[in-house]
Amino acid sequence: MLRWRSEATEATMRRSGRPRLRLRLPLVTLFLLVLLPLSLGQDQAGNTGTETSTSTSSTSSASVSSSTVRTSPTFLSRSSSSGTSTATTTRSAYEVAPTVLLADEGVTYNFTLNRTAPAFLAHFANNVTDRALGVILNIGQLAPNGSEPLPKVIVTTEDNYLPHDGRRSRTSGGSARTGYNIGEGNSWQIVWDNGFGNWTHGVDRNWNVANHSAVAPRLLIGRGINDDVILDPTLIGAGNVTVYLGYTVLDTPPGGYFDYTKVGGIDATHPYFGDSSATEALVFSPLRLADKPPQPKYPNYTLPGPELSLPDFKAILNGSEAANNNTFLFGGRAQSVTFVVLPTSSTPSELSNSAAAIRAEVALLPPADTPTVNSNGSMWTTVGGTAGFRDYVVFGNLKPSTNYTVWAVGADGITMSQPAWFTTKQATFRCPLLLPTTMCPGVGYASPLSDSPSTLSAIPQEYADFIAASLQAFEVSVLTGACGRDRYSFVSDCADCYAAYREWLCRLVLPQCAGDDVAFVDVDPSGPQSPYRLDRTLESPRNTNISSSTGTPTYPIDYFELMPCINTCTRVSQLCPSSLQWNCPRRHFNANESYAFVTGNNALGDGSANTGWPATDVYGNRWCNGLL
Ligand SMILES: *[C@@H]1O[C@H](CO)[C@@H](O)[C@H](O)[C@H]1NC(C)=O
Ligand SMILES: *[C@@H]1O[C@H](CO)[C@@H](O)[C@H](O)[C@H]1NC(C)=O
Ligand SMILES: *[C@@H]1O[C@H](CO)[C@@H](O)[C@H](O)[C@H]1NC(C)=O
Ligand SMILES: *[C@@H]1O[C@H](CO)[C@@H](O)[C@H](O)[C@H]1NC(C)=O
Ligand SMILES: *[C@@H]1O[C@H](CO)[C@@H](O)[C@H](O)[C@H]1NC(C)=O
Ligand SMILES: *[C@@H]1O[C@H](CO)[C@@H](O)[C@H](O)[C@H]1NC(C)=O
Ligand SMILES: *[C@@H]1O[C@H](CO)[C@@H](O)[C@H](O)[C@H]1NC(C)=O
Ligand SMILES: *[C@@H]1O[C@H](CO)[C@@H](O)[C@H](O)[C@H]1NC(C)=O
Ligand SMILES: *[C@@H]1O[C@H](CO)[C@@H](O)[C@H](O)[C@H]1NC(C)=O
Ligand SMILES: *[C@@H]1O[C@H](CO)[C@@H](O)[C@H](O)[C@H]1NC(C)=O
Ligand SMILES: *[C@@H]1O[C@H](CO)[C@@H](O)[C@H](O)[C@H]1NC(C)=O
Ligand SMILES: *[C@@H]1O[C@H](CO)[C@@H](O)[C@H](O)[C@H]1NC(C)=O
Repeated sequence: MLRWRSEATEATMRRSGRPRLRLRLPLVTLFLLVLLPLSLGQDQAGNTGTETSTSTSSTSSASVSSSTVRTSPTFLSRSSSSGTSTATTTRSAYEVAPTVLLADEGVTYNFTLNRTAPAFLAHFANNVTDRALGVILNIGQLAPNGSEPLPKVIVTTEDNYLPHDGRRSRTSGGSARTGYNIGEGNSWQIVWDNGFGNWTHGVDRNWNVANHSAVAPRLLIGRGINDDVILDPTLIGAGNVTVYLGYTVLDTPPGGYFDYTKVGGIDATHPYFGDSSATEALVFSPLRLADKPPQPKYPNYTLPGPELSLPDFKAILNGSEAANNNTFLFGGRAQSVTFVVLPTSSTPSELSNSAAAIRAEVALLPPADTPTVNSNGSMWTTVGGTAGFRDYVVFGNLKPSTNYTVWAVGADGITMSQPAWFTTKQATFRCPLLLPTTMCPGVGYASPLSDSPSTLSAIPQEYADFIAASLQAFEVSVLTGACGRDRYSFVSDCADCYAAYREWLCRLVLPQCAGDDVAFVDVDPSGPQSPYRLDRTLESPRNTNISSSTGTPTYPIDYFELMPCINTCTRVSQLCPSSLQWNCPRRHFNANESYAFVTGNNALGDGSANTGWPATDVYGNRWCNGLL
């Protein structure tokens, strides 16, 4: 890990001020060489003399296609063929590094840095050099043993210009708060924070876009660059290191607020872990679109019925993503996400903030250990207690009783969520995963509905029939009671009441299977310490909370039930008209026979986040079956 001692920092700053004049001539020459083929500056070609003719071919190859990063043999041979080591080590990295033009916003550029191509100088197309922009960087991978020195990224501008301090931190994963930009005057170094770096240009300390003139930021990206910005071959290291760079220009007028969340990089959200079986896991993206199904309006009291009819998510995103304020942005963009999962033990701890490194680590897993995507898609759900659309994925080929870390990665390839963690169930676990459905949109977990372990994308018919019949009966009693009155204010309550009943019913008819009774680690000692479980066998299938004319549902396998959180029941009594006379068991009486809760105080520990301990946490600990 790169650490800057403050004396070293100051020394660098002082030095970087001095060589500026010395460097100016070669820099200008370099710029001309690169811009020549683009700006048709034919008559300037003569001014730069004989050097131009020897360099044009290599520099034009670097500038013609900005995304094709090539080394410049001309420049490099000068350093590598210059014989004595003194000649080599006094070569400024700026002279050696071939120039790469960053012209395409939205493209992620990559730079492979190794002995033959230790450094690159990246500069922006002319039309962005005076704009407010944000740059994000990822280190792709270090040597397998992590021993490669980290590349340096040094930003310079033609004029003094205050950058905004970059700074980031992660709430979890154990990484220290190490990332921030340092510098003074016209040169700064971007400090890596576990493989992630960022830099914002043209913004004052309050994130307001400054009134500024062209300052032409450039980034020197290289290995073997010492504190004097001299290329020292002994510092380069043996292997390849790839640095990924993305940038975003925001059209914010001077004085306006620079919304750096639109730059991408690290998103504050994390994936929502549905549940795991022994070898599969169901994971949801952060919420992409918050959306309630249409609410019934007086005098039309039609409730949604057993199957919710949902809006077309793809059409919403396609048609009006900018106009729709319910759309959640990922890294500042309305973009779909993919997921990356790694055994927690294989997580590159040195590069744990780098989407590129994590993808590279997945590619290194032997095929036998590589998770597969068994199914994926987008779906309207109420998982996590919020209604809306999420992307989901079912991972397969996981190992039983193993810790995994999962991230959501944006379609831009460089924006990554916070991590979430989960553990697969023991090898003897038999319940299949069940995906959310239009009938039970909050159920996305393992349930004992089949004696085959394959993931279910639909509720098996007998249970679906049972749920539909119960919902219809409930609808009749809701509509003939308080909701039938000519009072608008009750109407939306009735839809909420119906939805709360649906959540309760689904979680009781489709019980969640619990894994082994493993104690949680690092939890609040006054909160839940392990899952609340009930042993359900074929002989003692379940309590009689639910039944109908067709009897109580039965299940084809023995299982341990993860008890429903008591809030699944109390929400119904809170949201439904009192005339329905919905009663939940009392904590001090017999509630613990059918529901999970913590403490004897009704205001605490019912499974909701706002009463102390949510049903599940970011580490995948789940103590009861319910909404957060
Ligand atoms: C690196 O950049 C090259 C040139 O643009 C591109 O073809 C390649 O796919 C990129 N590699 C990765 C891993 O992004
Ligand atoms: C350095 O990286 C470039 C680009 O990937 C590659 O062509 C070259 O062979 C590498 N050199 C060494 C010494 O690995
Ligand atoms: C800069 O110019 C290029 C080509 O003319 C264009 O594609 C790009 O969108 C421009 N960038 C900005 C931020 O205006
Ligand atoms: C680890 O890196 C060092 C330095 O590059 C190298 O000498 C050593 O062989 C590497 N070890 C392994 C096991 O790759
Ligand atoms: C760098 O990224 C982090 C996380 O996205 C953000 O909090 C910080 O403000 C960014 N800094 C800059 C200079 O863009
Ligand atoms: C920006 O600076 C120019 C020249 O100094 C000045 O004319 C202009 O009014 C300034 N604009 C703002 C928004 O401060
Ligand atoms: C670096 O990458 C190049 C091109 O992918 C490859 O040929 C070379 O072997 C790599 N070098 C090392 C040391 O891995
Ligand atoms: C009542 O709502 C249902 C479902 O939303 C709809 O099909 C029906 O046309 C509505 N009836 C009236 C009179 O608005
Ligand atoms: C997106 O909308 C445009 C016009 O509104 C339409 O032509 C296009 O087919 C739509 N694409 C998808 C994937 O729905
Ligand atoms: C979205 O929100 C912005 C600002 O909060 C507001 O100006 C705009 O009118 C809203 N758009 C819609 C379609 O509601
Ligand atoms: C599902 O995965 C495939 C392959 O990884 C990907 O191309 C597709 O976009 C994914 N679909 C969704 C909805 O995430
Ligand atoms: C999984 O993670 C938990 C919590 O951090 C830890 O106690 C446990 O030892 C880990 N299990 C394995 C197999 O690494």
